[in-house]
Amino acid sequence: MGLVAWDGEMRRTRVFKIDFQGFAEPLIAQAAEVLRAGGLVAFPTETVYGLGANALDADAVKGIFAAKERPAYDPLIVHLAEAAELPQVTVGIPPVAWTLAAHFWPGPLTLVLPRRTEVPPEVTAGGETVAVRVPLHPVAQALIRAAGVPVAAPSANRFGQLSPTRAEDVLADLEGRIDLVLDGGPTSVGVESTVLSLVTPVPTILRPGGVSREALENVLGFVELFPGPASSGQGALASPGSLLQHYAPRAKLILYRGAPAAMLDVMREEALRLHAKGTRVGLLLAEEDLALFAGLPLILRAAGPAEDLEEVARQLFATLRELDAAEVRVILARDFGSAGLGLAIRDRLTRAAGGHVVAVQS
Ligand code: TXA
Ligand code: MG
Repeated sequence: MGLVAWDGEMRRTRVFKIDFQGFAEPLIAQAAEVLRAGGLVAFPTETVYGLGANALDADAVKGIFAAKERPAYDPLIVHLAEAAELPQVTVGIPPVAWTLAAHFWPGPLTLVLPRRTEVPPEVTAGGETVAVRVPLHPVAQALIRAAGVPVAAPSANRFGQLSPTRAEDVLADLEGRIDLVLDGGPTSVGVESTVLSLVTPVPTILRPGGVSREALENVLGFVELFPGPASSGQGALASPGSLLQHYAPRAKLILYRGAPAAMLDVMREEALRLHAKGTRVGLLLAEEDLALFAGLPLILRAAGPAEDLEEVARQLFATLRELDAAEVRVILARDFGSAGLGLAIRDRLTRAAGGHVVAVQS
């Protein structure tokens, strides 16, 4: 199971700027050729940037693990251009998969289904299931279509780091290790797809993400939620990505939960206590919280208004990267609730905190 270590063979990483207006077909065609030749291409999806390889080419897929230094036990998502391609990579497709595809594809929903044997074990980490999604982003769509093969793609960051929402984030982690980055600007959803298992007795969310639990329940009636990192620790690896320490900034992060007024009070006290000890402290806040901290010797960043969770999700990883860039030692982050995208935001912040969560009583 260990890490596939980076072998040090540097590649020249090219960057193609893809402009939506004059859609760059020749550039997409070149990128597709790189994929067909077994190369690695980072590309924007609506959630985060992915690091793509031909999913049917085991050696190319191994290259993803090497570039990311990702452990081989963590399986990849296979990206398709449309739902009709599902039988190329899965078998025994239940009717509910087609229902979900009709509602949410293209979009930030990943379905875990029984794998076809043509999908190499490198993609599925040796497992008998495969995770599949159809991304919405026009660059992702065009690339997969032009490549004419299913595209395996994890988030385009080094293992354990924050997911990239901009081409420059990809380069910061992977320049020299991959062949090409398609720069389609910042991504619109900002958190990764929801991973939903359809091989469990009841459809089960393994990772909350861009499609909310409520949206899934509107279609399915009920979905199970796999106990998140906050409660499960590193135990059952139903979704290996549920490792507790994941999506982490360099700074130590502490997540605060509770009624906003009490939560923010405790955060302010703790920030000032740390500052008094000489620690450089950053705060991840909602826009409306900023006034409460104004004038204090703290590094403040707002991800968006608390009632606009789409904006908070979109800005979440970039805001954490900014706090790292400001060289804070500790980040105190507020919670944004569990409704809608709040659950995915809470999941990522809990992982970033490595389980260090403070529940504030009001
Ligand atoms: O939005 C996204 O999902 C992005 C974009 C690029 O599509 N991709 C992404 O991939 O976040 P990655 O590899 O960073 O996360 C994939 C998650 C991991 O938690 C992994 O454990 C889980 O999906 N996963 C993949 N295959 C699985 C399987 N067969 N069974 C259960 N979980 C699986
Ligand atoms: Mg990832």
